[in-house]
Order: sequence, then C-alpha cells, then structure tokens
Amino acid sequence: MAIDKETLLAGLNRDLASEYSAIIQYTHYAATVTGPFRHELRTLFQTEAKQEQGHAQYLADQIAYYGGAPTTTPNPVPNAKTPKEMLQRILEGGLVKKCGKRIRRLACQNASLGCH
Ligand SMILES: [Fe+2]
Repeated sequence: MAIDKETLLAGLNRDLASEYSAIIQYTHYAATVTGPFRHELRTLFQTEAKQEQGHAQYLADQIAYYGGAPTTTPNPVPNAKTPKEMLQRILEGGLVKKCGKRIRRLACQNASLGCH
C-alpha cells in the first residue's frame, strides 16, 4: 500500500522526536548515574547517545530530502534517579527495539541502503 508524502513526513518527524528525546535521555542518565556500576553505565549511555544522534541525523536528512521540515522538538524525557530506574525507563520506552525497527523500515524504503 502506498503512503502519501504528508503521512510519511509526519511519521518520520514522530520518529525524529523520539530520537531527540533518546539523545537527551541517554546524555542525562550518563551525567547523573551513580553507584558501583557508574563507569560501565556511563560508557553505555554515552555510546547509545552517539548512536541515537546518528539516527536523528539520518531521519532529519530524509525528511529534508522529501521536502519536509525536520522537527526540533523532542518527546518528553522520563525522569529516573537510580541506575535501576534508568534501565527500566529505557526498557519501558522501548528505545532499543523501536530504534532498530525504525531504521530497518526506513532502510527498506531506500533501496540504496539495503534491507536487513
Ligand atoms: Fe535511534
């Protein structure tokens, strides 16, 4: 089923807003994480933040390519104080799962990127 351009752009902008919030979430968690695994979690969150930035750039580029205006507004970022809460918020938000699904879907639409 074909998707019209406005629907595509709206969906891509929703995804972009999620990527922006993920960047903020991981960056915030990296800065505020405490406890005996602080170093490992900080490294993990920093790595994820960088990956999300790449996804956000890719989505923004695609939106611009299709003639849209990439959003500059992130989704709300869930607060968490303890390492356990941080990991729970990440899992609840489905950041890892959603992220892979979006990128795969977009890559499948763009033949030059291949379909995984
Ligand atoms: Fe992502």
